[in-house]
Amino acid sequence: MNEQNLLARRKAALGPTYQNFYDEPLHLVRGAGTSLWDVNDRQYIDCYNNVVSVGHCHPRVVEALCKQAATLNTHTRYLHAGIIELGEMLVERLPGDIDTCIFTCTGSEANDLATQIARHVTGNQGMVVTEASYHGVSELTRRLSTDSYPPQDRPDWLAVIEPPNLYRGPYHRDDTQAGKKYLELARQELDNLEQRGHKPAAVMIDLVWDSNGPLVAPDEYVLGLCEEVRKRGGIVIADEVQSGYCRSGKDWWTCNVYGFKPDILTCGKPMGAGHPLALMATTREIADDYSQTYHYFNTFGGNPVSAAVGKAVIEVIEDEGLLQNAASTGAYLESGLRELAENHACIGDVQGRGLFWGLDMVTDPATRKPMSEAQMRHLGSLIVEQGVITGTSGRYGQVLKLRPPLPFSRSDADVTLNAIDVALTRLAR
Ligand SMILES: Cc1ncc(COP(=O)(O)O)c(C=O)c1O
Repeated sequence: MNEQNLLARRKAALGPTYQNFYDEPLHLVRGAGTSLWDVNDRQYIDCYNNVVSVGHCHPRVVEALCKQAATLNTHTRYLHAGIIELGEMLVERLPGDIDTCIFTCTGSEANDLATQIARHVTGNQGMVVTEASYHGVSELTRRLSTDSYPPQDRPDWLAVIEPPNLYRGPYHRDDTQAGKKYLELARQELDNLEQRGHKPAAVMIDLVWDSNGPLVAPDEYVLGLCEEVRKRGGIVIADEVQSGYCRSGKDWWTCNVYGFKPDILTCGKPMGAGHPLALMATTREIADDYSQTYHYFNTFGGNPVSAAVGKAVIEVIEDEGLLQNAASTGAYLESGLRELAENHACIGDVQGRGLFWGLDMVTDPATRKPMSEAQMRHLGSLIVEQGVITGTSGRYGQVLKLRPPLPFSRSDADVTLNAIDVALTRLAR
């Protein structure tokens, strides 16, 4: 089964939207922990896949899945202890006043439902997102994903605000007023929204601004934005699909790191460690208000197998101290990345938290001109040649994205840092 043959078959049978990350397609056949193996049994360190939050094919998660799949799999219209236990475990860990869970299969569905609920409870239609945001693939969440379609197609109910990028945006880290200034830009867009006849139903914030970075925003900006939207009649949706589940190394949820209480929190990717399980969680009051008018049933969301997986993931995170690992290995990785940035002028900026880091790659440090997509693809390919899997993100596709499974170790970090070092040296030649 060679790669060319598989590629040709994929092209014939599947849609053209399927793409490969690297110059040469990677043909992976097995995974364990933070490692992946290709068809030739070559091992790679995975420094990219956050979905497998507790590591690839974690034995406890696999066992929970198999056991439940061999026992019963139905849906949420029958009583089943597993789904209730998962809900209780989440409620114990969810932030602020959030105490009510509704399960979906994907982050898109969770954000779609969150938006519908926000519109219902506020009576407003406007939505606030950042430039180059990503929140999903349904018709509604696609509109909230400004990185996914041309600006001229934006609906008039959408306010698009500047991402708080302290390296690449208009205000930088050395400006002590940067937070206030980004907030002022947001206020202007909220005014524009109101002039177009829409009050905000909600701001939806990806608390790591993944498609822009990752970014670390000034606290006062995030808190100020929530306050401003609430003042104008809207609510706050924390999209923690990327930033939740201990990724920051500081807390289960990044809204707690910034110190605000969202009205709705959504999550997905890391919850099922590869199994499709996602969440829209809110306060009892909001959930009751919505359910007086609307029914919500998701055929697969929260089925007994998903619930068994979801519970196992939470147990593994806590039993294996993965929040602490995200903090300590994250700090170790950060210092290595900062050292690399001193030796390679093409690393314009190092930004992130815990086990989520981005290197903003530039062709000219003085002008901060971003590396092209082709250069980034080549860089990723050179890193893969060294046995490490990374990804890209950023408004211009210029950010080398490092977002490994949570059990990522110091020795994984060493291999990764060395691979990036070698790749950048080769790229410079
Ligand atoms: C911040 C954010 N929200 C929502 C989504 C959508 O999640 P899903 O792909 O599970 O529909 C994503 C997916 O990448 C995401 O990064």
